[in-house]
Amino acid sequence: MPFVLPVLPWADDALAPVISANTLSFHYGKHHKAYVDTLNKLTAGTELAELPLIDVVKKTTGVPDKLPIFNNAAQAWNHAFYWESLAPKSGGMPTGKIAAMIDKDLGGYEKFKIDFANAALTQFGSGWAWLVLEDGKLSIRKTPNAETPASGSATPLLTIDVWEHAYYLDYQNRRADYAAAVIDLLLNWEKANERLG
Ligand SMILES: [Fe+2]
Repeated sequence: MPFVLPVLPWADDALAPVISANTLSFHYGKHHKAYVDTLNKLTAGTELAELPLIDVVKKTTGVPDKLPIFNNAAQAWNHAFYWESLAPKSGGMPTGKIAAMIDKDLGGYEKFKIDFANAALTQFGSGWAWLVLEDGKLSIRKTPNAETPASGSATPLLTIDVWEHAYYLDYQNRRADYAAAVIDLLLNWEKANERLG
């Protein structure tokens, strides 16, 4: 199969207690895997199956008759990106280039924390909160369902999955608590710096 579920670099319980092993096993092993499996089925024997995942996302963005492929490709991409946006014993104050850019573009880390959590909280229904780089500046975004800034010209740097499957087993309806804990304890600033280049 051309599209594969990426192997996670840590154990199921590595993100606990912010994200439990139970949530991780369902989220990664069932939800993420289902997007990859469905994408393989939907693209089997087509030219899309020959392309890198990100190209499938870009090529199917906004194409009505390719919506099921877009949804599964974008969710496969977003989830791989989400796992890389997290790391055990991480989060809190950023360091390096991203820290300086947050000060310059987003009013400092304390303001970033509030604004990023607010993007996660106010995304109505399922979706994603994003830290992106566009035209040399950082900004915070949110997208519904499978939509992703990777479809356009922005460079995504970090994301938080705010679909209920990402937090409901651990936090029930308390999405704000989930987002705050991810920001404080899991955001992978090292990866964000790497993505800035
Ligand atoms: Fe998810």
